[in-house]
Amino acid sequence: MTLEELEQAKAACLAEIAAAADAQTIETLRVKYVGRNGAIPALIKAMKDVPKEDRPAFGKAVQAWKAEAEDAIAEKKTKLQDAGGGRQNSAHPCDATLPGRWTDFGVEHPISRVISDAARIFGKLGFTVADGPDIENPFNNFTALNTPPHHPSQDRTDTFWLTSDTLLRTQTSPVQIRVMQANKPPVRVICPGRTYRRDTTDATHSANFHQIEGLYVDTKPVSLADLKSVLAYFAKEMMGDGVGVRFRPHFFPFTEPSVEVDFTCHVCKGKGCNVCKQSGWIEIAGAGMVDPRVFEHVGYNPKEVSGYAFGFGVERIAMIKYGIPDIRWLYENDVRFLHQMA
Ligand code: DAH
Repeated sequence: MTLEELEQAKAACLAEIAAAADAQTIETLRVKYVGRNGAIPALIKAMKDVPKEDRPAFGKAVQAWKAEAEDAIAEKKTKLQDAGGGRQNSAHPCDATLPGRWTDFGVEHPISRVISDAARIFGKLGFTVADGPDIENPFNNFTALNTPPHHPSQDRTDTFWLTSDTLLRTQTSPVQIRVMQANKPPVRVICPGRTYRRDTTDATHSANFHQIEGLYVDTKPVSLADLKSVLAYFAKEMMGDGVGVRFRPHFFPFTEPSVEVDFTCHVCKGKGCNVCKQSGWIEIAGAGMVDPRVFEHVGYNPKEVSGYAFGFGVERIAMIKYGIPDIRWLYENDVRFLHQMA
């Protein structure tokens, strides 16, 4: 091959590369020209047959062809990929042809769900959400709630005392005290939060659990019937149609009269089943009319105000509503369990 023929062959090769319209053609041309058995390596091998005096110029021309062909092929490949939105797009390093990356969305924890549902339901009745600290003083947790020092709940075996005047709150009821101390009546709040008791953990007990407290105090008369209607509305909204409430007499130091509140069993709708131990009712909350002593402790005049309060266990509602047999499942953070709540 003469130098002139070589220049012609090179021009033809570069024209072919320039005309290539797809990745397959460019690959065929790469193999044809620069591949191991391609035209250019063949010329390099045949260099020994070129007359000695022509060899340097010929060699230079072949190397130039090789370099130009390789550059043209690489450039063309990039261009074709850019045009097709293909991989390794240098200008746009994102590959639009790859499947999207899925984020594994979490689900709202049953405890959070009961709390947010309760906030929504009571919110429709004008209740706002109040918060209080987990570490309380004995006045808010006991004294102001008319619970005397000899009461068993004040015992070291029942309550986590941190110092002689700090403890982990045993109930959300102290938030009632904080709310009344900070606000003039009327007050209408629910107070969700974590509570602590020296309980040995088993399927239905936990040393820390959640409660939702409710408090309504007004200067116009508030009655037990008001309390019952509000809890009946809550029962229906939270557990479904056909779920009502009944009150049973009980005792709490901070309410007078006090009641325990049962919901109609949402599974059998009151007929009797295993869930309600054939009674048709499930115990849900404690409640009552705020004791005048509590009003005195927060500086309200018991002759001018009246109100009701209630408190229920969040885990208890979650377990009943979602059919969770063991309270510990709520704290284990096993995603297989949590995903069933989706
Ligand atoms: N604090 C009570 C408990 O932990 C629950 C309770 C009962 C709250 C009656 C109240 C209430 O506000 O009026 O067992």
